[in-house]
Amino acid sequence: MEENLDNIRKTLRKYSQEHLLNGYEKLDEVKQRQLLGQIETTDFELINSLYHNTRKELEKSQDVITPIEFLDKDNLNGYYRGFIEKGEKAIRAGQLAAVTMAGGQGTRLGHNGPKGTYDIGLESHKSLFELLSDSLKEQGRKYDVIIPWFIMTSEENNKDTIEFFAKHRNFGYEKDKNLFFFKQGELPMVDTEGKILIGENGLIKSAADGHGGIYESLVKNGMTKKMRELGVEWLFIGGVDNCLVKMVDPLLMGIAIEKQVTAAGKSVVKANPQEKVGVFCKKNGKPSVVEYTEIPEEMAQATDENGELIYGESHILCNLFNINAVERMGSKPLPYHSAFKKATYIDKDGNKVVPDGPNAYKFEAFLFDAFGELDDMAILRVKREEEFAPVKNAAGVDSPETARELYRKFYQL
Ligand code: UD1
Repeated sequence: MEENLDNIRKTLRKYSQEHLLNGYEKLDEVKQRQLLGQIETTDFELINSLYHNTRKELEKSQDVITPIEFLDKDNLNGYYRGFIEKGEKAIRAGQLAAVTMAGGQGTRLGHNGPKGTYDIGLESHKSLFELLSDSLKEQGRKYDVIIPWFIMTSEENNKDTIEFFAKHRNFGYEKDKNLFFFKQGELPMVDTEGKILIGENGLIKSAADGHGGIYESLVKNGMTKKMRELGVEWLFIGGVDNCLVKMVDPLLMGIAIEKQVTAAGKSVVKANPQEKVGVFCKKNGKPSVVEYTEIPEEMAQATDENGELIYGESHILCNLFNINAVERMGSKPLPYHSAFKKATYIDKDGNKVVPDGPNAYKFEAFLFDAFGELDDMAILRVKREEEFAPVKNAAGVDSPETARELYRKFYQL
């Protein structure tokens, strides 16, 4: 252990992260081992370069961004039936799996726990997970199949999520038969000097590394293998916070199959240039999404001759992928984006610091950064009121109140 500790100290010195062991002596043996394990598995080169990227002036990008073509669900005319039939046949044959990204916590909603366990305030008091499972089961019955459900959790909420499901008898699903949980990765948070933070438990303070790691996690955790055993060819990947998410959609499936593309995504018309949604586009001729946090003002505001937003196809985190594409995307690392967040930590003298504002960087990969690996992607514009009722903020736009209203209207409650 001593020799190991010496090596670890050397590594930390090399990367100017010696402070990570400041509180080591005060930890119990279990925590000491955990901390050393964390340090040994940390990719300090990666953290260093991610930190330095946050310092760089945003370089002028050489990427050529152009609008993306899309199909409008309302305008498919004679093609509609054909797509639906193709999609239904594939769903009936058990080729579809649903994947829910549920690594996030309900912090923004003032909810203490996994976001999926949040009760949006319907009379039934069903959680987001239950609302999603209701629709998944209903769709399955329609096509005489049980759609296998794969839930991505994070280190932070994996245990609570599994317990929540167990408490609700897995909503009628059978764990490890048609219900599977897998964890996404995480990365250390660093302060404005590039120092990795120590959390209140004396260990490295990490945060979920974004949903971009989903492809790799699906492969590494044996999920794609499991899917192949089940005969799955297509994965619908959606967020946990859209209570109208339509995970089983013969139209989207049919379009992907008919157009022979390996992915298809849904969009809704962006409500206004400031709406907090990413938008679909083409980057250097390949499908892509420009995130709302990164879209240049000029691009967000640009309109065509009819006054419509040129980049107005909102990405609603409703995407369908062929299993081969997922495996391919899972083998390539994605770039990380940084977000400046508020994080409580233990300083180098062992004092707890509760900051008033953002003080640390969190690094996240976005699942749509992998879209460039796809040859092409079909985009289907759908109706907001039928498929997009996100629950993001405690009040105002995209809040439980707006989501409830949309949900009730759609299900005529
Ligand atoms: C997201 C999209 C945005 C889209 C909008 C639609 C990203 C980066 N952006 O924004 O393009 O227009 O939704 O509502 O996703 N999640 C994880 N693990 C993570 C991070 C997120 O599982 O590490 C899950 C969350 O639980 C949630 C979903 O991904 O289900 C979206 O995450 P969130 O951080 O709320 O994204 P938005 O900023 O709302």
